[in-house]
Amino acid sequence: MVGYAFMGAAHSQAWRTVNRVYDLPARVRMSSICGRDPQKVAEAADRLGWDGWTTDWRKLVTSDEIDVVDICTPGDSHAEIALAALAAGKHVLCEKPLANTVDEARAMAAAAATARGAGVRSMCGFNYRRVPAVTMMRQLVAAGRLGQIRHVRATYLQDWIVDPQFPLVWRLQKDKAGSGALGDIGAHIIDFTQYVTGQRITGVSAITETFVKERPLPGGSSGLAAHVDGHGSADGHGPATGAVTVDDAAVFVARLDGGALATYEATRFATGRKNALRVEINGSLGSVVFDLERLNELEFLDGTQSATEQGFTRILVTEPEHPYLSAWWPPGHIIGYEHSFTHQMRDFVEAVATGADPQPSFEDALQVQLVLDAVARSAEQGSSWTVVDPELAPVAA
Ligand SMILES: NC(=O)c1ccc[n+]([C@@H]2O[C@H](COP(=O)([O-])OP(=O)(O)OC[C@H]3O[C@@H](n4cnc5c(N)ncnc54)[C@H](O)[C@@H]3O)[C@@H](O)[C@H]2O)c1
Repeated sequence: MVGYAFMGAAHSQAWRTVNRVYDLPARVRMSSICGRDPQKVAEAADRLGWDGWTTDWRKLVTSDEIDVVDICTPGDSHAEIALAALAAGKHVLCEKPLANTVDEARAMAAAAATARGAGVRSMCGFNYRRVPAVTMMRQLVAAGRLGQIRHVRATYLQDWIVDPQFPLVWRLQKDKAGSGALGDIGAHIIDFTQYVTGQRITGVSAITETFVKERPLPGGSSGLAAHVDGHGSADGHGPATGAVTVDDAAVFVARLDGGALATYEATRFATGRKNALRVEINGSLGSVVFDLERLNELEFLDGTQSATEQGFTRILVTEPEHPYLSAWWPPGHIIGYEHSFTHQMRDFVEAVATGADPQPSFEDALQVQLVLDAVARSAEQGSSWTVVDPELAPVAA
């Protein structure tokens, strides 16, 4: 694994758990973790359960000891690490968004296609697909229970940078993160809605905004709970600051190739909303709603019921027959955020061990990147309608 902070910890927990929960055709050994600071990475290896550590990711990707490379770094290093790992014959799990640019994502998808020919697998970490209620949402759509999909309404709302004194962490720098709320959380709802509906976004009209354009430079930590050091600027007036070079919020409308209209809102300025991901889908025969803050539930309206008895039904998605849940707890004993990562590792390990292609593939993630790019270009061009490059095959089943 490369990177040991937020996603490094979430993935480590899942790697630790996956063989204990699921009966899989291969056993995971957590061999080595990589970070840039020797003291911190050594401490992380111990805390997160890795056998060893290194400060040079090239040692991981060329080691005979290692079969799988898990990339949990900011987007500016995804392409370089993934390309080297695939070239060395390692299976790769890479966090989202796949890359910082379409060109990088194209190179990664091409390398993944070549590697696939040699039995080397790759997958992008859109973990929300693996929340059982979200997988079930897709099953309802695929079974025709919603009929023709007319509307998709997706919001992903956070508020961790509302304070203008929140520091200029890597997520606010274009060269490190590629984009802001758009690529970070917008990418999730793009993948989520395309996965659930089985439809691709064909075109968009977008607005983006950077509300706070200058921020104090960060102190030691770089995550969502970072802080500002007491250091001052060179001229002694207040803390040193730097320019925010990404969007704080992105709002766009889209058409899906099955005929649906969709709206998307991704923001880090929704005061009071911590990590509020909500998707509602309306079809000719019914509607379904998912809310991450109640991730064990789905709201489903079956429009084929008699008008006098119709209403949204709250389904508790904790039965053993529900996706992923037979291995967990008795019905009603709910699961949480981190379980989506264990499910992700289950699917990845199973695919690698059985020679199947895990999903979402790098090609699927490239398609998300093309949507992100279309949104950014539309916003730059006064919200003009922007077609998503149709170069790719449909979203994989
Ligand atoms: N799937 C999800 O829900 C989800 C949630 C958060 C973040 N992410 C994604 O995960 C990735 C990492 O985000 P995070 O929140 O864990 O960030 P983070 O800042 O918490 O951690 C980044 C880690 O990468 C390390 N790192 C940075 N550059 C490196 C390099 N060149 N070589 C080695 N290590 C390096 C840092 O030291 C740190 O350990 C991003 O792509 C982000 O978009 C996904």
